[in-house]
Amino acid sequence: MSENSVQRTNVIGAGEVGVAVTVDMDTNDIHKTNSLFWDTKGAELLGETCLPKYGAFVSEEKCQLFGDVRGKKLLEIGCGGGHSLQYLGDRGASELWGMDISENQIEKTRQYLGERGYPANLICSPMEEKCGLPEDYFDFVYSVYAIGWTTDLEGTFRQIASYLKKDGAFIFSWSHPIHKCVAAEDGSLVFKKCYFDESWYSVSLGDHTLTLSDRKMSTYVNSLSKAGFVIEQMVEESDEDLMISHNGDFAKKARMLPVTFVIKARKI
Ligand SMILES: C[S@@+](CC[C@H](N)C(=O)[O-])C[C@H]1O[C@@H](n2cnc3c(N)ncnc32)[C@H](O)[C@@H]1O
Repeated sequence: MSENSVQRTNVIGAGEVGVAVTVDMDTNDIHKTNSLFWDTKGAELLGETCLPKYGAFVSEEKCQLFGDVRGKKLLEIGCGGGHSLQYLGDRGASELWGMDISENQIEKTRQYLGERGYPANLICSPMEEKCGLPEDYFDFVYSVYAIGWTTDLEGTFRQIASYLKKDGAFIFSWSHPIHKCVAAEDGSLVFKKCYFDESWYSVSLGDHTLTLSDRKMSTYVNSLSKAGFVIEQMVEESDEDLMISHNGDFAKKARMLPVTFVIKARKI
């Protein structure tokens, strides 16, 4: 921790989980920390972040953002263990491509899809960098709970635009920024963090550390626009059926404010 570090509460789910310590934005350090996290502890945490789920309480089954993917070429950014690619393969996509910063996750995807008879093109790379993916090629590029890890949001959106055909769709989900500010406490919802604070921070989960930043919604919208996208649809509402089946403090919080957001944008 540096002299200038600030500590605050970190919010995950309904409430406070751990302490967020501000850190300098150093891309190499952040990539090192986060790939180690995803090579180890992170691999256990994929449950809500694979299609048909976009994250807590939001599902593709309800939103139907992809429509008919039969015969379409798809690329997932931050493909994790490959479950979302399999979901879209089951729906008839003609080509499945994935990229991820973690060697371990890429290997899991290769094994998971291979066992199910899906050939896939997989690349291990940070999403911020050019990594040999074809340009003007994909009908869909999508990302389920991975975009927020980027150290360069606008640059990553520009890379993604380059992979898409004209009029191709980009769909991504992440934690809603307001959700990261508010915790359930003694039956009330309490602000724990300033919505406008986009500083980078580290959080320790047991023996493992991850580093990220909570961006404002306007940062996502303006970066998409600068990278050549037009937003077609945005989802903030939690799905009633998913909240009923969860039935805890997190579901109560999700009735009062968005916890996951999904954006569908089109390359112009
Ligand atoms: C929540 S998981 C995604 C799970 C995935 N949707 C699935 O279906 O299994 C987030 C993924 O983002 C990857 N990631 C984190 N930082 C990244 C970066 N800078 N570039 C590329 N991938 C990154 C992690 O390695 C992790 O596999």
